[in-house]
Parts: sequence; structure tokens; C-alpha cells
Amino acid sequence: MKESLVSVHFSEPAAANLALQRAFNHKDDLLASIPSIPAVLQQLLDELNQPADLVNLLRVSEIIGRDTSLAAQCLRMANSVLYSRGPGTDSLRGAVRTLGIARTRDIAVSCGLMRILPASMKALDPLVFWQHSLACAIIARKLARSVGFGDPEKAYLAGLLHDIGYIVNLVVLPQETAAAIAKAQQEGRFMGEVELSDLGFTHCQSGEVLARQWRLSEGLVEVILCHHNAAAAATNPALVSIVSLSDRLCRASDLGLGYAENPDPMDSWESDWKILTEKCPFAAEVTWDAFVRDSKTYVHEIHNLVASMYKPG
Ligand SMILES: [Fe+2]
Ligand SMILES: [Fe+2]
Repeated sequence: MKESLVSVHFSEPAAANLALQRAFNHKDDLLASIPSIPAVLQQLLDELNQPADLVNLLRVSEIIGRDTSLAAQCLRMANSVLYSRGPGTDSLRGAVRTLGIARTRDIAVSCGLMRILPASMKALDPLVFWQHSLACAIIARKLARSVGFGDPEKAYLAGLLHDIGYIVNLVVLPQETAAAIAKAQQEGRFMGEVELSDLGFTHCQSGEVLARQWRLSEGLVEVILCHHNAAAAATNPALVSIVSLSDRLCRASDLGLGYAENPDPMDSWESDWKILTEKCPFAAEVTWDAFVRDSKTYVHEIHNLVASMYKPG
């Protein structure tokens, strides 16, 4: 089992592959400590993998109701000044109705994801990591709808999970990863670049290992591996481009990993957009500039959503 995890094929340079295998080989016992996916999160992901018209309010509230703290979080959100319209609710179904299915899923899946972050995530503020993941998910879903990508919910999931490799790195090489994060933040450099030079592999490659352990679909595995190199995607290049563009937008909108990057992540969007225009029916009718302009309101909403989850009104 463990051997199969280290022998997976990577489409990145062989040297990086070797560095990752070495890190894992020396920390075999640590592989066991990579978080398994919580039961509630798995059920919610299964629910999200269905066509949108099959997802129903009752089933979502039942799944959330199996997890007391998740249920409490949803009730708290539904009764916060941000979402409450009229009298408060003390039932989970009422809370789900108030929030709406999409927002409930955003909260529930994100809370489930937060729970898998290990204590060693101190090097990377879990709130910042989660905010980036959720923001990327919401923007990816908006972008998917705008360009006519067939499965916006898959884009949402892909955005939510695209950076899970950071979790692996913090578990397998906690000190080295903490140092790489600090260096990237101090120097304003893209994290993947520092990882490659200092660890020998990136969160994309280690994320692929965790994605396979979680038995995520091939499309999601590819997003996790290729979201900083959409040109390498073969299974679903449109999905990878959507997440890559959304990730750039987040990193340039104070929804990245807590620091400003130089060069600006928005500088080299053209190749990702080109892939999208070739693969998605409506992309030619939308421009990236217009999408970015419109996204200002979503970005504002995401900042409010995150703030309200931690400082409920
Ligand atoms: Fe990333
Ligand atoms: Fe990211």
C-alpha cells in the first residue's frame, strides 16, 4: 500500500519525482499520519459529485446533522446578521433553507476540510489556507458557469481541493516546509518555486499522492497535479485551466496564502485562457478582463463569508 503511494507516476521532472520519493521513503511511518478524509466530508463530496438537480436540501441537512459541530456551525451562520432574514431558526433544515444549498455546501465542505489540517499547520495559518481554498472554489464555479463548462460543481470541488499538497508537505517534512513557507513569504516568491528549489518537489506532486490515497477522480487528481501548469493537462484541460485562473485571481486579490507575490500571479494568464476558449462553448463571449472586473463583488463576498464564520454577528 505504502509502496504504491511512492511509485505513482508523476508528469513533472524526474528529479522532483526522486526527491518526493526520497522524502516519503525516509518517513514511511509518517505516511500513516497523513489525514484520512473525514466521513462527513466524504459523504458531502459524494453528494456534490451528483448532478446539481439531484442534490436536495433534506439530504444535505441529514448529512450535516450527523456531525454535531458542523451542524452548530451551520446554525450559527444561518442566524448571523449576514444571512438571517426575519426570525432566527433553531432547526438544521431551517438553517439550510436560510443559507441556500450552495452556501450550506460551501460552509459544510470547508469546515470538513479544515478539520483535516494537522496541528503542524502552524507554519501556514489554517484560516488563510482555508480561505484561499474556498475562494478558489467559489471563483472556479463562477468561471465554469460563465464559460459554459459542463460541470460547475466539479470546478468548485477542484478549486477547494487543489492545494491539498501543502498538508502533505507539512506532515512529511514539517521543518523544511515551514522554512520554505517563511522564505516564500519574506521574499514574496511563488511557493511552488521555493518548494522545488528547497524541497525538491512541489505541493502539486505531493498533493497527487494524497489525492490518490483519497481515491479522488482522475479529473481532480489532474487538477491537483497540474494547477500551476495547465498546459500539461491531458484528461480535462478546461477544468485545470479554470482552477489555474481562479487560483491566480485569488493570489492577486488578497485571497492567496497571506502575502503578495512578485511577479503578480495575474501576469501570465493568457495561455490558461487560450485553453479555456478552445474547450468551452461560451468562453469566446467572455473576456478574462471582464470576468476579473465582475469578480470584485465575489471577492468582497468571500471576505465577508470568512469573517462572519469566525466573528458571527
Ligand atoms: Fe497551488
Ligand atoms: Fe492555490
